[in-house]
Amino acid sequence: MSELSTNKVLGAILSAALLTVGLGVIVPEFFPELPPAKPGYAVAVPVEVSGPAAPAADTPPDWGTVLPKADIAAGQATTAICQACHNFAASGANAIGPGLYGVLGRQPGTHPGFAYSQSMIDFGKKQPVWDYEHVYEFIKGPQAYIPGTKMTYGGLKDPQARINVIAYLHTLGAK
Ligand code: HEC
Repeated sequence: MSELSTNKVLGAILSAALLTVGLGVIVPEFFPELPPAKPGYAVAVPVEVSGPAAPAADTPPDWGTVLPKADIAAGQATTAICQACHNFAASGANAIGPGLYGVLGRQPGTHPGFAYSQSMIDFGKKQPVWDYEHVYEFIKGPQAYIPGTKMTYGGLKDPQARINVIAYLHTLGAK
Protein backbone atom coordinates (compact mmCIF):
# COMPACT_ATOMS: atom_id res chain seq x y z
CA MET A 1 0.00 0.00 0.00
CA SER A 2 1.42 3.34 -0.96
CA GLU A 3 1.70 6.13 1.51
CA LEU A 4 -1.01 8.02 -0.37
CA SER A 5 -3.45 5.13 -0.13
CA THR A 6 -2.75 4.73 3.54
CA ASN A 7 -3.53 8.38 4.04
CA LYS A 8 -6.76 7.98 2.14
CA VAL A 9 -7.79 5.02 4.25
CA LEU A 10 -6.89 6.82 7.46
CA GLY A 11 -8.70 9.84 6.20
CA ALA A 12 -11.79 7.79 5.52
CA ILE A 13 -11.65 6.23 8.98
CA LEU A 14 -11.20 9.62 10.55
CA SER A 15 -14.11 11.01 8.57
CA ALA A 16 -16.33 8.12 9.61
CA ALA A 17 -15.32 8.60 13.21
CA LEU A 18 -16.03 12.31 13.05
CA LEU A 19 -19.35 11.64 11.39
CA THR A 20 -20.31 9.19 14.11
CA VAL A 21 -19.31 11.63 16.82
CA GLY A 22 -21.12 14.34 14.94
CA LEU A 23 -24.32 12.33 14.71
CA GLY A 24 -23.97 11.45 18.35
CA VAL A 25 -24.06 15.14 19.07
CA ILE A 26 -26.70 16.04 16.55
CA VAL A 27 -29.10 13.13 16.96
CA PRO A 28 -29.90 13.52 20.65
CA GLU A 29 -30.53 17.19 20.02
CA PHE A 30 -32.51 16.51 16.92
CA PHE A 31 -34.87 13.92 18.31
CA PRO A 32 -36.25 16.00 21.15
CA GLU A 33 -37.08 18.58 18.48
CA LEU A 34 -39.42 16.18 16.72
CA PRO A 35 -42.22 15.97 19.30
CA PRO A 36 -42.63 19.78 19.47
CA ALA A 37 -43.42 19.62 15.75
CA LYS A 38 -46.55 17.67 16.73
CA PRO A 39 -48.80 20.51 17.95
CA GLY A 40 -48.46 22.06 14.50
CA TYR A 41 -50.48 19.34 12.87
CA ALA A 42 -53.31 19.43 15.38
CA VAL A 43 -54.06 23.12 14.99
CA ALA A 44 -53.06 23.86 11.42
CA VAL A 45 -54.62 20.95 9.58
CA PRO A 46 -58.28 21.35 10.56
CA VAL A 47 -58.05 25.12 10.05
CA GLU A 48 -56.63 24.71 6.57
CA VAL A 49 -59.17 22.06 5.70
CA SER A 50 -62.17 24.12 6.77
CA GLY A 51 -60.64 27.40 5.54
CA PRO A 52 -61.00 26.99 1.79
CA ALA A 53 -64.32 25.20 2.25
CA ALA A 54 -66.01 28.22 3.84
CA PRO A 55 -65.44 30.73 1.03
CA ALA A 56 -66.28 28.06 -1.54
CA ALA A 57 -69.71 27.71 0.03
CA ASP A 58 -70.16 31.47 -0.08
CA THR A 59 -68.68 32.57 -3.38
CA PRO A 60 -70.09 35.77 -4.85
CA PRO A 61 -73.41 34.99 -6.53
CA ASP A 62 -74.08 35.50 -10.19
CA TRP A 63 -76.61 38.30 -9.68
CA GLY A 64 -78.21 37.94 -13.08
CA THR A 65 -79.14 34.38 -12.10
CA VAL A 66 -79.95 34.64 -8.39
CA LEU A 67 -81.89 37.91 -8.27
CA PRO A 68 -84.78 36.88 -10.57
CA LYS A 69 -85.16 33.71 -8.49
CA ALA A 70 -84.89 35.45 -5.10
CA ASP A 71 -87.77 35.47 -2.62
CA ILE A 72 -88.54 39.17 -2.20
CA ALA A 73 -91.25 38.53 0.43
CA ALA A 74 -88.80 36.46 2.49
CA GLY A 75 -86.25 39.25 2.11
CA GLN A 76 -88.75 41.79 3.36
CA ALA A 77 -89.57 39.53 6.32
CA THR A 78 -85.86 39.24 7.15
CA THR A 79 -85.52 43.02 7.27
CA ALA A 80 -87.53 42.92 10.50
CA ILE A 81 -84.07 42.48 12.06
CA CYS A 82 -82.73 45.54 10.25
CA GLN A 83 -85.77 47.60 11.26
CA ALA A 84 -84.50 47.67 14.82
CA CYS A 85 -82.17 50.34 13.45
CA HIS A 86 -83.23 51.17 9.89
CA ASN A 87 -86.24 52.70 8.23
CA PHE A 88 -87.10 51.36 4.76
CA ALA A 89 -89.79 53.92 3.91
CA ALA A 90 -89.54 56.24 0.91
CA SER A 91 -89.29 59.20 3.29
CA GLY A 92 -85.72 58.03 3.91
CA ALA A 93 -86.01 58.86 7.60
CA ASN A 94 -82.94 58.10 9.67
CA ALA A 95 -83.07 56.15 12.91
CA ILE A 96 -80.20 54.44 14.74
CA GLY A 97 -79.01 53.68 11.22
CA PRO A 98 -79.50 55.66 8.00
CA GLY A 99 -82.70 55.35 5.95
CA LEU A 100 -82.26 52.44 3.54
CA TYR A 101 -84.80 53.37 0.86
CA GLY A 102 -82.77 53.67 -2.34
CA VAL A 103 -79.56 52.46 -0.73
CA LEU A 104 -78.66 50.31 -3.75
CA GLY A 105 -76.86 52.59 -6.15
CA ARG A 106 -76.13 55.24 -3.54
CA GLN A 107 -72.66 56.20 -2.37
CA PRO A 108 -71.86 54.63 1.03
CA GLY A 109 -71.96 57.06 3.92
CA THR A 110 -73.85 59.84 2.13
CA HIS A 111 -77.51 59.68 3.19
CA PRO A 112 -78.44 63.24 4.22
CA GLY A 113 -78.75 63.95 7.91
CA PHE A 114 -77.07 60.80 9.19
CA ALA A 115 -73.89 61.00 11.29
CA TYR A 116 -71.84 58.20 9.77
CA SER A 117 -68.70 56.73 11.26
CA GLN A 118 -65.45 57.89 9.70
CA SER A 119 -64.93 54.26 8.62
CA MET A 120 -68.11 54.33 6.51
CA ILE A 121 -67.23 57.73 5.03
CA ASP A 122 -63.77 56.44 4.11
CA PHE A 123 -65.28 53.28 2.64
CA GLY A 124 -67.52 55.44 0.42
CA LYS A 125 -64.46 57.26 -0.90
CA LYS A 126 -62.90 54.10 -2.26
CA GLN A 127 -66.16 52.31 -3.09
CA PRO A 128 -68.45 54.96 -4.62
CA VAL A 129 -71.58 52.83 -4.91
CA TRP A 130 -73.54 50.32 -2.84
CA ASP A 131 -73.93 47.62 -5.46
CA TYR A 132 -75.28 44.11 -4.81
CA GLU A 133 -71.85 42.67 -4.16
CA HIS A 134 -70.79 45.19 -1.53
CA VAL A 135 -74.10 45.13 0.35
CA TYR A 136 -73.90 41.31 0.24
CA GLU A 137 -70.43 41.34 1.82
CA PHE A 138 -71.15 44.17 4.28
CA ILE A 139 -74.30 42.71 5.84
CA LYS A 140 -72.61 39.32 6.19
CA GLY A 141 -70.36 40.74 8.90
CA PRO A 142 -70.40 44.53 9.11
CA GLN A 143 -67.54 45.02 11.58
CA ALA A 144 -65.34 42.50 9.81
CA TYR A 145 -65.97 44.08 6.42
CA ILE A 146 -65.72 47.74 7.50
CA PRO A 147 -63.75 47.84 10.76
CA GLY A 148 -64.96 50.72 12.90
CA THR A 149 -68.46 50.88 11.41
CA LYS A 150 -71.25 52.05 13.72
CA MET A 151 -73.44 49.21 12.47
CA THR A 152 -73.31 47.03 15.56
CA TYR A 153 -75.08 44.10 14.04
CA GLY A 154 -73.56 40.64 14.01
CA GLY A 155 -74.38 39.95 10.38
CA LEU A 156 -76.64 37.84 8.25
CA LYS A 157 -74.63 34.70 7.54
CA ASP A 158 -77.05 32.77 5.32
CA PRO A 159 -76.17 33.64 1.69
CA GLN A 160 -79.71 33.06 0.42
CA ALA A 161 -81.17 35.30 3.14
CA ARG A 162 -78.80 38.06 2.04
CA ILE A 163 -79.76 37.57 -1.59
CA ASN A 164 -83.44 37.83 -0.62
CA VAL A 165 -82.81 41.02 1.38
CA ILE A 166 -80.95 42.53 -1.57
CA ALA A 167 -83.80 41.56 -3.91
CA TYR A 168 -86.16 43.38 -1.55
CA LEU A 169 -83.85 46.44 -1.39
CA HIS A 170 -83.86 46.36 -5.19
CA THR A 171 -87.61 47.11 -5.12
CA LEU A 172 -87.04 50.19 -2.91
CA GLY A 173 -86.02 52.95 -5.29
CA ALA A 174 -82.74 51.30 -6.31
CA LYS A 175 -80.82 53.21 -8.96
C1 HEC B 1 -78.02 47.57 15.64
C2 HEC B 1 -78.45 48.49 14.60
C3 HEC B 1 -78.41 48.02 13.17
C4 HEC B 1 -78.95 46.87 12.63
C5 HEC B 1 -79.70 45.74 13.33
C6 HEC B 1 -78.68 46.94 11.20
N1 HEC B 1 -78.00 48.08 10.90
FE1 HEC B 1 -77.37 48.68 9.07
N2 HEC B 1 -76.49 50.32 9.87
C7 HEC B 1 -76.56 50.69 11.20
C8 HEC B 1 -75.76 51.88 11.41
C9 HEC B 1 -75.55 52.61 12.74
C10 HEC B 1 -75.23 52.21 10.14
C11 HEC B 1 -74.25 53.34 9.83
C12 HEC B 1 -72.86 52.71 9.86
C13 HEC B 1 -71.69 53.66 9.94
O1 HEC B 1 -71.85 54.89 9.88
O2 HEC B 1 -70.57 53.13 10.09
C14 HEC B 1 -75.72 51.22 9.20
C15 HEC B 1 -75.43 51.21 7.85
C16 HEC B 1 -75.98 50.34 6.92
C17 HEC B 1 -75.78 50.41 5.51
C18 HEC B 1 -74.98 51.47 4.77
C19 HEC B 1 -75.94 52.62 4.49
C20 HEC B 1 -75.35 53.86 3.87
O3 HEC B 1 -76.09 54.83 3.73
O4 HEC B 1 -74.16 53.87 3.49
C21 HEC B 1 -76.46 49.38 4.94
C22 HEC B 1 -76.55 49.01 3.47
C23 HEC B 1 -77.09 48.66 6.02
N3 HEC B 1 -76.78 49.27 7.21
C24 HEC B 1 -77.90 47.56 5.85
C25 HEC B 1 -78.47 46.84 6.90
C26 HEC B 1 -79.28 45.65 6.71
C27 HEC B 1 -79.68 45.09 5.37
C28 HEC B 1 -79.59 45.19 7.96
C29 HEC B 1 -80.38 43.96 8.33
C30 HEC B 1 -79.92 42.71 7.77
C31 HEC B 1 -78.98 46.11 8.92
N4 HEC B 1 -78.31 47.09 8.24
C32 HEC B 1 -79.07 45.98 10.30
C33 HEC B 1 -77.21 50.02 12.20
C34 HEC B 1 -77.84 48.78 12.08
